[in-house]
Amino acid sequence: MGKGLKIATIGGGSSYTPELIEGFIKRYQELPISEIWLVDIEAGKEKLAIVGALAKRMVENANVPIKIVLTLDRAAALKDADFVTTQFRVGQLAARAKDERIPLKYNTIGQETNGPGGLFKGLRTIPVILEICNDMERLCPDAWLVNFTNPAGMVTEAVLRYSNLKKVVGLCNGPIGIEKGIAKILDADLRRIYVEFTGLNHMVFAKKIFLDGHDVTKRVLEEMTSEAGDTISLKNIEDLGWEPEFLRTLSMVPIGYLRYYFQTSKMLAEQLESLNNEGTRAEVVQRVEKELFELYKNPDLAVKPPQLEQRGGAYYSEAACNLICSIYTDKRDIQTVNTRNNGAILDISPDSAVEVNCVITKQGPIPLTTGELPVPIKGLVQQIKSFERTAAEAAVTGDYNTALLAMTINPLVPSDTDAKGMLDELLAAHKEYLPQFN
Ligand code: G6P
Repeated sequence: MGKGLKIATIGGGSSYTPELIEGFIKRYQELPISEIWLVDIEAGKEKLAIVGALAKRMVENANVPIKIVLTLDRAAALKDADFVTTQFRVGQLAARAKDERIPLKYNTIGQETNGPGGLFKGLRTIPVILEICNDMERLCPDAWLVNFTNPAGMVTEAVLRYSNLKKVVGLCNGPIGIEKGIAKILDADLRRIYVEFTGLNHMVFAKKIFLDGHDVTKRVLEEMTSEAGDTISLKNIEDLGWEPEFLRTLSMVPIGYLRYYFQTSKMLAEQLESLNNEGTRAEVVQRVEKELFELYKNPDLAVKPPQLEQRGGAYYSEAACNLICSIYTDKRDIQTVNTRNNGAILDISPDSAVEVNCVITKQGPIPLTTGELPVPIKGLVQQIKSFERTAAEAAVTGDYNTALLAMTINPLVPSDTDAKGMLDELLAAHKEYLPQFN
């Protein structure tokens, strides 16, 4: 057998890493990885040591010959890598807590990847991901960049527009979570179900649902809107229920993030209410993280603990490992990923990143056409793409006015004056992570 594969994971100290390691272990026969380099920064050194030790115990316990390397030296990790997975959070959860708290002072949704929080997650992340792209061109020009770092759609857009990297795929666990929810509702094996997705990351819709080749979209929506119906909600988003007539008439299953757009006032009220109790989502997650890292420290733990499923990103490794495996083996199965649109969605420019079903080949994802966006969601999806492109430009240029434009055109921001207030406050709050604006 030839030399095994080298994986470099940037943000290796993440609490999600055990999920990724588990996914690679499970697929070892068809995905012969010889080394996984877990990379972090100085501020994440302690987390890296804890998660890295667990990763080593996991591969040993599974008896697979994968070498786990822990390092702060990103270049060494990238050198000759075959796949680079990115899952980092600039400013860690403390920065996310600011993204979620400050907009609430302006009566605006505070969220990790949407609204002002999504803008600032992008402004902090995009310069770093573009540096990684430059390093990859030098150190592993044939490698694939598999990006999980949020906002995954905006980040993929930025890499497509502002780097020379062609081999990039953006990933999210959203679509796989919706598919699992639909399978539960239909009480059917996933292999009998086909879901046609259309839209953007965290702005995606299950447009058509098939069971054994029959369109069951309406049936799923009936079930979702029935009394005890499963609304296919995400762990990290409050499930406030949908108006049945709205959802049935929309006749698509929206990812949970659409609650921030179609239920704005209800979601804002819920956020303001929980602010003084459990705090923002980031503050809840900080407590979950403490519990997880205590668990990870246990030298007798050699598998991914079930407690990780409390996080919203559960199953993300299934998406990542399925993708890497299908590219490596040229499987040509169909997966929902973020890639260059290339006409798959008629209403979005061909060179933009979209989240659609793709045939996964050795040369990468080939998007399947899904035609026009349905009229009720066309404007919103296009507006979010306008926001993403403007935000990416602001992230790259560090231009204040472009950032103000991005903030103001975001559908969750109530006015230009609120936009300016939030922009100024968030720029000050994140100053150390936004060198391009200083
Ligand atoms: C969802 C999204 C991820 C997001 C995560 C947040 O699953 O797909 O992109 O980062 O939830 O979960 P958390 O537990 O951090 O709030």
